[in-house]
Amino acid sequence: MNAQELIATAKKLVADDKGLLAMDESLPTCNKRFAKIGIPQTVEARRDYRELIVTTSRLNESISGAILSDETIRQQKQDGTAFVKILADSGIIPGIKVDAGTKDLAGHPGEKITEGLDGLRERLAEYRQMGARFAKWRAMIVIDNHIPSRGCIEANAQALALYAALSQEAGLVPIVEPEVLMDGDHTLERCFEVTEEVLHTVFNRLYRQKVMLEGMLLKPNMVLPGLACSKQDTVDEVADATVTCLLRTVPAAVPGITFLSGGQSSELASARLNAMNVRYKSRAPWALSFSFARAIQQAAMEIWHGEQANVQEAQQALYRRAKCNWSARRGEYSDTMEKA
Ligand code: 13P
Repeated sequence: MNAQELIATAKKLVADDKGLLAMDESLPTCNKRFAKIGIPQTVEARRDYRELIVTTSRLNESISGAILSDETIRQQKQDGTAFVKILADSGIIPGIKVDAGTKDLAGHPGEKITEGLDGLRERLAEYRQMGARFAKWRAMIVIDNHIPSRGCIEANAQALALYAALSQEAGLVPIVEPEVLMDGDHTLERCFEVTEEVLHTVFNRLYRQKVMLEGMLLKPNMVLPGLACSKQDTVDEVADATVTCLLRTVPAAVPGITFLSGGQSSELASARLNAMNVRYKSRAPWALSFSFARAIQQAAMEIWHGEQANVQEAQQALYRRAKCNWSARRGEYSDTMEKA
């Protein structure tokens, strides 16, 4: 492990108000999103779509790194240029999702465990050799009446810590993603309580596994009311709850927080990130940044619709959404940007 290189990469991923573009949807997830809007679920369609993303001009103005999947990191543009090379040449650091998805957690109805530790050391070495410089692992925590359980939180935190240590050993910055899901009718307060417990446990396990905090990034959920909760808190209330929760749990040595969007609308994700930066940027110990998939890609995917003729317009939408989030990091986003 080259500690200085890890620290420099982690810092670069959150520098200049840029953020991450998550384009690492697994095959089933990507196919599900394509099916929903009537795009064929083929390897060619997925490649075409990813080519649209990586060839979007000036994306590097607001995007510092892109997270790829195992399929995408091996793919090329029509002219044979590897996607990894296109990204790196434009100054966007390539990253890779390394977990193998979630499975039911034995003995814990309704809860999930993320798999993928077997053979991970060898896979990380291969990805590093292919050009990846950071690696993401997503744990999924569900809120319901009697869950999450301690067993689920601890098992997922342990897996996150083992993957993070292996990533640093391989020279890849871990993007540690414990996602508390928005599904359900729970309140913001309940999400706060669960997120706080999850993050405490995760940082305890990261410490035990000797993960270097300066050479990692945290990718958490924002603290939100469930999608079906009757009380939907204001943008500022969400910003306050989220940063308060993070201040209580995330050590100042971590260089950045790169939020997932988790099913919020693109506009709300930008507005909430903006509010956090307006209110806390000058005094938060870490950068408050983004690592969105849906909240950057959704409009572009819908416009593209699998048609070559729509590529340019879709790329404009992608560029614009990334730019909105860059503005949100600066605390300069406003809904007039949505109409521009
Ligand atoms: P969303 O922004 O769509 O939640 O995706 C982020 C991500 O990378 C999930 O692992």
